[in-house]
Amino acid sequence: MHLFCTPSILKCLAFLSLFNVALAASATDWLSRSIYQVLTDRFALTDDAGTPCDTAPQLYCNGTFKGIVNHLDYIQAMGFDAIWISPVVTNLEGNSAGEGDAYHGYWTQDITTINKHFGTSDDLKALSKALHSRGMYLMLDVVINHFASFGLPNDTTISAYGTFNAPDLFHPQCFISDYNNQTNVEQCWLGDTTVALADLNTESQTVIDGWNKWITGMVSEYSLDGLRIDTLKHVRKPFWPAFQQAAGVYAVGEVLINDTSYASDYSNFIDGVLDYPGYYALTQAFSSTSGNMSLLLETSHQTQSLYKNGAFSTAAFLENHDQPRFQSTVHDQSLVKNAMTWSFVTDAIPILYQGQEQGYGGGNVPANREALWLSAYVTSNTLHGHVTSLNSARKAAIAANSSYTSVPMVVSSPSESTILVSKLPMLAFMSNVGAFGSYNAVGGGYQPNEALVETLSCKTLNADGNGNINFASTDGLPMVCEFL
Ligand SMILES: *[C@@H]1O[C@H](CO)[C@@H](O)[C@H](O)[C@H]1NC(C)=O
Ligand SMILES: *[C@@H]1O[C@H](CO)[C@@H](O)[C@H](O)[C@H]1NC(C)=O
Ligand SMILES: *[C@@H]1O[C@H](CO)[C@@H](O)[C@H](O)[C@H]1NC(C)=O
Ligand SMILES: *[C@@H]1O[C@H](CO)[C@@H](O)[C@H](O)[C@H]1NC(C)=O
Ligand SMILES: *[C@@H]1O[C@H](CO)[C@@H](O)[C@H](O)[C@H]1NC(C)=O
Ligand SMILES: *[C@@H]1O[C@H](CO)[C@@H](O)[C@H](O)[C@H]1NC(C)=O
Repeated sequence: MHLFCTPSILKCLAFLSLFNVALAASATDWLSRSIYQVLTDRFALTDDAGTPCDTAPQLYCNGTFKGIVNHLDYIQAMGFDAIWISPVVTNLEGNSAGEGDAYHGYWTQDITTINKHFGTSDDLKALSKALHSRGMYLMLDVVINHFASFGLPNDTTISAYGTFNAPDLFHPQCFISDYNNQTNVEQCWLGDTTVALADLNTESQTVIDGWNKWITGMVSEYSLDGLRIDTLKHVRKPFWPAFQQAAGVYAVGEVLINDTSYASDYSNFIDGVLDYPGYYALTQAFSSTSGNMSLLLETSHQTQSLYKNGAFSTAAFLENHDQPRFQSTVHDQSLVKNAMTWSFVTDAIPILYQGQEQGYGGGNVPANREALWLSAYVTSNTLHGHVTSLNSARKAAIAANSSYTSVPMVVSSPSESTILVSKLPMLAFMSNVGAFGSYNAVGGGYQPNEALVETLSCKTLNADGNGNINFASTDGLPMVCEFL
């Protein structure tokens, strides 16, 4: 349905993307991509049995790499051309009191083997191959800061760590106690005495060499196109450039903080940074009809001025596996659609977390890690169509303008309830007036009388004699215009 208004330029895209896959993918290659975030344990079962998966006990629900391969059509049909999968290495086995299994993949034990719950090393290679045959990229989540232990580690636990199996390769035990002290953040430990996250001594040359050799091997063995790096801010900054170079592919790091100055400095050490400050501003702006649009405007201007390559240094998201889903608190579908639009129309690389397109509404961890198979992968719901339209509008704009992924966007706020992103040929209007509100929007930069399409409603319109459009929304919905 929503493909009716796909601009004609899109036809050649599938063909073009085939040229990209043989070479190591750089930051520039990733700028035109759209990423779908997969939590392997919760995306697809090998046999599609539809087995129930209760999020509360935090146990394995048994999603696999084979399951992902079987459902790549679902991901690709929404217009995504990359997936980020959760960590794949062997994790702690068994169940910790209160914190469950390592189904999420963040409790590393042995980096030389693949987590058997998700499949075999060959299964992972088959996933990589299946993606590449579709012109899609594979981004792997990696945890470099720490290994995990049920309780504080002892010599026995450390000897199971394979590559880093000596106590002096870890920082002396202390849990992080002061987030304003960067040394404390980098050298003390995350976790607690139930599941301790033993902090690697990333000052040690043995550790540096071990990690660099490992990542070179992983990228080569599984033909990885990119990395998502967990807990980036918990490792000293000068560690990252050599690691990035050893990987030889694009890497985007998690810097969990609501502070653009703090987060942006990491763009001097690694290709990309997940836009957490932007996430906080985005969710606040569309949280209600009195959300703060000027905070989103101000944050995006800071992003453009502070990161090494402005917002191009970031990857943007509305949801992920660590934060409550947007619909756990916001139910107005107009606000939801507006908030979802933002990540797809800015300079950032867009990321959508599995289940957002199905309208999932789980709150804090672990409720936000619902199994996708429980949706039966239906493609008929409204938000699924919305994501598909956003991806196709973005792809059309990229294909139409060779400077789309290099010339910075212009963000403005025509009124206290609207925000406008101009990236010609795309103009995107978002508003938090809500489903019962209305707004007018004026934007320009087109040719006089140019024929345009509003890609979310598929309505055609024409620019006026000055190349402007004056658009009226009666239901608060976002509008994404570009030429036919
Ligand atoms: C996952 O597999 C394990 C081992 O076969 C099984 O005990 C468990 O019940 C399965 N989980 C679900 C949610 O089916
Ligand atoms: C080391 O820790 C493990 C896991 O908590 C425990 O099972 C084991 O008994 C401990 N070994 C020693 C020697 O303390
Ligand atoms: C910062 O943290 C480190 C590591 O815990 C500690 O040694 C140091 O004393 C702390 N500095 C200050 C000023 O508190
Ligand atoms: C994030 O930081 C901004 C600017 O300091 C602040 O206005 C906003 O309330 C913060 N958001 C959250 C969710 O803490
Ligand atoms: C909205 O955000 C702006 C920019 O950070 C801030 O100055 C203003 O106080 C905020 N307004 C409200 C109502 O919180
Ligand atoms: C392409 O992008 C540049 C930079 O934003 C802009 O000046 C130009 O008008 C755009 N071209 C078209 C055809 O939209």
